[in-house]
Amino acid sequence: MKLHIIPAILVSVALAIVVFFILETMRKPTYSLGELPERFIHEHQVTDFDGEVFRQRRDQIVEELGADLVIISATTRHDFRYVTGFTESRGIAVIEPGTSKPYSLFVTPWEIYTVMWTGEVYGINGAIEKFGADQAFELDKFDEKLAEMVRGKNSIHIHGGDSRMRNAVEAALRHNRQQAEVIDMAPVLHELRVFKDQWEIEQLKQAIDVTLKAHDFVMATVKPGQTEYEVQAAIEYIYRRNGLGVGFSSIVGSGPNSCLLHHTRNDRTMQDGDVLLIDIGAASRGGYVADVTRTIPVNGKFTPKQREIYELVLKASDKAMEQMTPDNYILDCNHVASKVMVDGLHRMGLIPDTTSWWQKRFYIQHRVNHYIGLQVHDAGDYGFETQKRDEHILTPAIRGRKLEPGMVMTLEPGLYFMVGMLDGIHEMFGHLASEDELNAFVEQVRPIYEKYEGIGVRIEDDILITENGYVNLSAHAPRTIDEIEAAMRR
Ligand code: GLY
Ligand code: MN
Ligand code: MN
Repeated sequence: MKLHIIPAILVSVALAIVVFFILETMRKPTYSLGELPERFIHEHQVTDFDGEVFRQRRDQIVEELGADLVIISATTRHDFRYVTGFTESRGIAVIEPGTSKPYSLFVTPWEIYTVMWTGEVYGINGAIEKFGADQAFELDKFDEKLAEMVRGKNSIHIHGGDSRMRNAVEAALRHNRQQAEVIDMAPVLHELRVFKDQWEIEQLKQAIDVTLKAHDFVMATVKPGQTEYEVQAAIEYIYRRNGLGVGFSSIVGSGPNSCLLHHTRNDRTMQDGDVLLIDIGAASRGGYVADVTRTIPVNGKFTPKQREIYELVLKASDKAMEQMTPDNYILDCNHVASKVMVDGLHRMGLIPDTTSWWQKRFYIQHRVNHYIGLQVHDAGDYGFETQKRDEHILTPAIRGRKLEPGMVMTLEPGLYFMVGMLDGIHEMFGHLASEDELNAFVEQVRPIYEKYEGIGVRIEDDILITENGYVNLSAHAPRTIDEIEAAMRR
């Protein structure tokens, strides 16, 4: 009898192990980064540039400025790239409309030691052939040519953020014993940068699409026991593998770190039951940056508490998105998102008094939109004082400027139940409420708040404003609970 039981047990155990491994393999495909499936990759190219797009852009800049001489250097980084498309860290562009060679670039010349020590440069030929300059010179020749270039000009447009250029232009004017107005072009450039042309929108789509591939990859592969930096590495690998750059420091925050708005240490080991907030953006080959956040359960299934918060943030996002049309103002979506979240938190017992500004401010940490473009927080005026967060964030009467077609901005509501946050309430609002009021709030809210501690949820999409409404450029990343859980079951 005994002799039969032992082999039977051994066979059953072996079968159970085999079945377990088969189920485990079915549950998740295993990807090795070296051999990524096709759907995570598309073809390579180093820098995107379109001579005609940039020529038209320079014409538009000259027209807006009413300028007869425009000088801009690579010191101004994104503004220089906007004008020239030129990618090197050193360079100067000069535009003299109406002359036979209106567009000059001053660049690092191709020299054997420069290239050997610092890497490939485009040089004089590249400036002309690739970047469309009518003529190009060595950078070192700029100072001696400057006096000649400013001669006879009444107004000279430079960039206010470039004090070295201002000094050089003023020295050239003194040298010529010449009077001319030196004008800052930055406000005009920044206003133009608010409205994206078709080429820029394609660039943003390229960055967004690869960012979404990274989100898809994480959803398909993440599991408890991995570290945040492994996830970060996989994300950035996917960018590079697609020939794109990292647009900004990847935020990969699990569990309590999901509540730290700009967590970039990414050093925690993820636990079963954690949420994982991933706020990332690739940079396109033309330099345009995506900014997309998804919040997912590390083990593939949201807990009931996580679902509650997720549903509330998602509702805020959906309602706010409806506001993103040219009929509305730039902060309207923010006020709608805040209202949805405040009402929800009130129903949950977390905001006892919705007329109390500080009770709302305790949960509403940031506004929900910013422009994206060559920078993740792109240049451009919003029609209100962006620095004074406390003024506009919960004041529906402050609406900012009108939304217009061609603007591209994020929509990113979030709620964060930071561990220990309630204990910081005196530090945060001691100047607005009495000790007794704050203590009463903490006492009432704590039993509820603690159930959500360590849950941070942000949902961030990239929205293009159109003639009639908007397009959510990141809509094809799983966004609802069902979509995310389904993507994680693949
Ligand atoms: N990634 C920073 C932000 O969402 O604005
Ligand atoms: Mn972001
Ligand atoms: Mn953002």
